[in-house]
Amino acid sequence: AVSSFGIIGMGVMGSSLALNMAEKGIKISVYNRTLQGVEEDVAQKFVDANPDMKGVLPFDKLDEFVESLEQPRKILMMIPAGQIIDQQIARLLTFIDKGDVIIDGGNSYFEDSAKRQQYLKGPGVHFVGMGISGGRKGARKGPSLMPGGTSEGFALIKPFIEKIAGKDKDGKPCMHYVGPDGAGHFIKMVHNSIEYGEMELLAETYALMRKSLGMSTGEIVKVFKKWSKEGADSYLMDAVLAILNYEEDGDLLLDKILDVAEQTGTGGWAVSTAAKYGVPYAPLTAAVTARLISSKKAQRVAMAKKYDRKAVELDQKEMLTSLKGAYEMGRLINHEIGFSLIRKVGEDENWGLDMSEIARCWTSGSIIQSSLMEKISGVFKKASSLMESPVLQQNFEKEATAMAEVVGAALKAGVAMPVMSAAINYFYGMSTGESSANLVQAQRDYFGEHGYRLANDASGSVYKNNWNKE
Ligand code: 6PG
Repeated sequence: AVSSFGIIGMGVMGSSLALNMAEKGIKISVYNRTLQGVEEDVAQKFVDANPDMKGVLPFDKLDEFVESLEQPRKILMMIPAGQIIDQQIARLLTFIDKGDVIIDGGNSYFEDSAKRQQYLKGPGVHFVGMGISGGRKGARKGPSLMPGGTSEGFALIKPFIEKIAGKDKDGKPCMHYVGPDGAGHFIKMVHNSIEYGEMELLAETYALMRKSLGMSTGEIVKVFKKWSKEGADSYLMDAVLAILNYEEDGDLLLDKILDVAEQTGTGGWAVSTAAKYGVPYAPLTAAVTARLISSKKAQRVAMAKKYDRKAVELDQKEMLTSLKGAYEMGRLINHEIGFSLIRKVGEDENWGLDMSEIARCWTSGSIIQSSLMEKISGVFKKASSLMESPVLQQNFEKEATAMAEVVGAALKAGVAMPVMSAAINYFYGMSTGESSANLVQAQRDYFGEHGYRLANDASGSVYKNNWNKE
């Protein structure tokens, strides 16, 4: 046994992490299954393609791969989420020993990770479900790492993963053991949910500029750059700037891309998790729904002919300042509700989640890194919600007005703003002391005798009324 770490799966993420580890001087073994005629000699080809990479042993036989690893073995699986993970674990179990650690670095469903950890207790194998963010570049240069699972397993892999993680502004690794069970994958799921919201907000903002404010992509780039200098900068904003500048044969590539947004799970799982734990989640639900609506391309095209709306041009000067406020407000709300899901699940599951640390972990390497994330990490040292924080109160107040203007004008002009409108409704709802929920309770009691409590009755007693005096 010569290698101190093993990686299974030489796809984009697996191979990039392998390069990162090798660069840090970690001796690794890499394994990829062989599928005759489809995937052959993948690990060997990866090593051949990177002649400068040192200390990496390629394998296409699982037993030989396992044998090459020092005990306790540390094996990172970088393969697709789902049943493949269970099959891989079952195959590994025939070769590995008690005390070894299996790490799942994919986007697995957190409840599956909790079950796998429990299952592996039997053979005495540690399981770490680890969220990894950053795509190819992040994995290669320094990803954001969110390990969860057994603390013993984490302790064994810590020295290695610390070396490859991205570094925050103080040089600390963007890696944090978030908690037991499926906590690592839970945190990655919420991360992705915020990612969906941030992406959709950029798309809504861009669409309003281009279609209703009559701006060219060049003008949009200028405005986005200005906003970035004023604190709205983020990795995703930089991505959009690059996309808006990318031409192919003299045309913007973006204009040729089909407007159907896909998804691979995490965003939708966050929505159902929020519902399960009773967390209001409309804005990030709207981001998932927007992708779903986009997937109904044929229907959209047909209905667009039937319900033809004339394009209404909005006044650019009037709208632009408000649009910036609305964009910032949307981001605050996206983060607020993502973290409120983290807080609630963390409390209910007794995971002891540290929201400031989690935000810090997302300040580098992560797809949702931004100046705002740095700020949020600071805010969560003192407050448990962004809306409660005195530091952000003025932002919420000012930007809510801007957002209401933008959403109102956009809806009047016939343009959908799903995340923005859900965000302003969330904010209004969460800052309304006397709501109309009394009428909902009364209706529940009217037809179902569910009972209601009285506003001025501190005892919390439940009353039922004979509404028709029968
Ligand atoms: C990241 C990303 C990444 C995720 C993609 C795909 O943090 O690096 O979240 O892990 O796989 O963004 O997500 P969808 O296919 O659902 O858009």
